[in-house]
Amino acid sequence: MPDIGFVNGQFAPLAEATVSVEDRGFQFGDGIYEVIRTYGGELFQAQAHLERLARSAQAIQLTLPYDLPKWMAYIKDGIDRAGYRESKVYLQVTRGVAPRDHQIPEGLVPTAVMTIREMSELDPRQREEGVGVVTLEDMRWGRCDIKSIDLLPNVLARRHARDAGAFETIFIRNGRVTEGAVANVMLVQSGGLVTPPEGPHILPGVTRRVVLELAQKDGISVEERPVTVRELRAADEVFLTGTTVEVLPVVRVDGERISTGRPGDLTGRLSARFRALVA
Ligand code: PDD
Repeated sequence: MPDIGFVNGQFAPLAEATVSVEDRGFQFGDGIYEVIRTYGGELFQAQAHLERLARSAQAIQLTLPYDLPKWMAYIKDGIDRAGYRESKVYLQVTRGVAPRDHQIPEGLVPTAVMTIREMSELDPRQREEGVGVVTLEDMRWGRCDIKSIDLLPNVLARRHARDAGAFETIFIRNGRVTEGAVANVMLVQSGGLVTPPEGPHILPGVTRRVVLELAQKDGISVEERPVTVRELRAADEVFLTGTTVEVLPVVRVDGERISTGRPGDLTGRLSARFRALVA
């Protein structure tokens, strides 16, 4: 079954889909993106992802080339062509192609790109045993709520994690936890969930929102408030949320065990609720 590429309305085998070297996404990181997945062939939270794409576009004064129903139609067409049950759909919209100049030219036509590949799942042992994370000063810009393709700090943070033998890096800004390089962060304290609030320093994760709603439905208290790095280290449980990690237990921070060093009960409960939702 083929991996699929899409550029400005044209589908092609992924290896044949190309954009210009003068695309502003390539030269300036001048663009935005989304990652959506399917479960058993069905898109998960596509509407929420597309609404966030629209918000990101508006925040950088980029007019999306398609409205949301048109995006949805292209995505469904793409996942049908690829034929995977578990697909990873990547959407990217950049400012367009122009001679290199920081100034944004008038009348540019945005470049819309989509790729569809088979989703590669995490190693099941990581879910069962939990993963380690390392902390790092958050040196990203002040608008991490925009899903910008400009991901150099996140890329370096992933490498930092790997070099330290950890799964993920958790960013710390002024002593407070913001988020991971590819996921949001949640803590369990005294039986309740605590997670940093939405704002300019974190991505308002689609999975984050789904998990907070699952918790509330389950009678678990939810606090969205600033979280210190000290609270992270002393938490009863810690886990990550995101399209690629789903609900992933964290059992070590900077090499130190969290609580018992085993995935916690509440994390397990929410992970099971999440599984049931996507099944
Ligand atoms: N990343 N925070 C950051 C910095 C992210 O890059 C992501 C997702 C999340 C989780 O958001 P969501 O639940 O909406 O997937 C939080 C995607 C998967 C990526 O860049 O590949």
